Amino acid sequence: MKIAIIGSGYVGLVTGTCFAHLGHAVLCVDNNKDKLRLLKQGKSPIYEPGLEQMIRENVKEGRLKFTASIAEAVRKCELLFISVNTPPKENGEADLSFIENVSQEIARNLKSYRLIIEKSTVPVQTGEWIYKTIRARAKHSLFDVASNPEFLREGSAVHDFLKPDRIVIGVSSARAEKLLRKLYEPLKAPLVVTSLASAGLIKHASNSFLATKISFVNMLARICDAAGADIEQVARGMGLDPRIGASFLKAGIGFGGFCFPKDLSAFLKMSERLGMRFDLLQEVLDINESQKQYFVRKIEQAVWNLRGKKVGVLGLAFKADTDDMRFAPSIDIIAALQKEDVKIQAYDPQAVSNARKVLSGVRFVKNPYEAARGVDALLVLTEWSEFLTLDFKRIRKTMNRALMLDGRNLYNPADMKRLGFEYHSVGRSVPAQLA
Ligand SMILES: NC(=O)c1ccc[n+]([C@@H]2O[C@H](COP(=O)([O-])OP(=O)(O)OC[C@H]3O[C@@H](n4cnc5c(N)ncnc54)[C@H](O)[C@@H]3O)[C@@H](O)[C@H]2O)c1
Repeated sequence: MKIAIIGSGYVGLVTGTCFAHLGHAVLCVDNNKDKLRLLKQGKSPIYEPGLEQMIRENVKEGRLKFTASIAEAVRKCELLFISVNTPPKENGEADLSFIENVSQEIARNLKSYRLIIEKSTVPVQTGEWIYKTIRARAKHSLFDVASNPEFLREGSAVHDFLKPDRIVIGVSSARAEKLLRKLYEPLKAPLVVTSLASAGLIKHASNSFLATKISFVNMLARICDAAGADIEQVARGMGLDPRIGASFLKAGIGFGGFCFPKDLSAFLKMSERLGMRFDLLQEVLDINESQKQYFVRKIEQAVWNLRGKKVGVLGLAFKADTDDMRFAPSIDIIAALQKEDVKIQAYDPQAVSNARKVLSGVRFVKNPYEAARGVDALLVLTEWSEFLTLDFKRIRKTMNRALMLDGRNLYNPADMKRLGFEYHSVGRSVPAQLA
């Protein structure tokens, strides 16, 4: 099939590349010239395991092409996916102006049947708005609008796309359903066919539910700290109940990224507009915000006075295996420390170039050992697997004080103690004699 992906970011680029890998002819559209230049050289503008090689292979085979022109995409492709960004506005609502711009551009160029598929995460009724926008401007009504929310996770996006738990398609015509069934048939995943409104809600509800689990376990971790219990043991005991499930029960410094924080805010606003107060979601967001400050207080308690201290940071990205810094907890934690005149030196395996755009006054270093040199405390803010196999003796020797604050519960407290660190993590403040 001939497929266009309009908006070639974390979602669009993975989607387009994977469809090309499945044998389709794919045209990825983006209006960011720097991204297009890199893509045309066979380079990925984002870090996503396995993606760059897949881009190169499919470009070489002639199945994957890039353009800045939506007109070209509408002319050449029957399936048009919209995967542009939907950033939060100041009041928390999703900014849908990018979607509207793309819809107008599609309308101006519509000559024969096209299926327009909404893949960005958007409030219910967006599908209807896309339909109305195109219908008002196009010369004919030979088109359908469908919704196909994306559930991939950054860091394992290629795998998630090719081996999804489920595929959700919201359709309002038999023709659209037939096309999307054919497209996704090779993935052999459970297909949930719904109305446009239900498809969008499935995405918002899924993200909100997962975020709720995270805030729940983070609050529980604080209770564990206060009660001298171990959150890992508590979460394991809970997670073995299949009604609860073990995933997303990991305590830490809160969620970040381009999905949970903004999608929760957007869902809250959407519920308000529909006349409902979804206060639970506000609480989830509030716990998430205060979780970062909770960790900052832990740092303060461990170093005594923050003012004038030097702190090393391991990991800046919002999660491991991505270079994405959007809404990363590291941003707020570092800002809170800098407010107290703490000097920061930080290392991340992939996110430094994005981090430079959002963090100022930070000394970025080339490896974890430089991050630890001469510091009063070393923080773990992203769970990169390379941090598991560091030479901790070397690290300890170069630190001003062997103090480690692990915001991701990456290490075993007993191992860290054996290695000579004063070690603090989240929800594992078990009294020393019991550890
Ligand atoms: N990142 C994720 O893990 C993830 C997962 C599921 C769903 N989503 C949703 O998917 C959507 C996209 O997210 P993302 O992370 O890929 O965003 P992104 O910012 O990485 O990518 C969006 C791309 O769209 C391009 N764009 C914007 N306007 C355009 C236009 N008029 N013409 C052509 N290109 C245009 C931008 O240049 C950018 O490259 C969002 O709604 C997000 O909530 C994201």
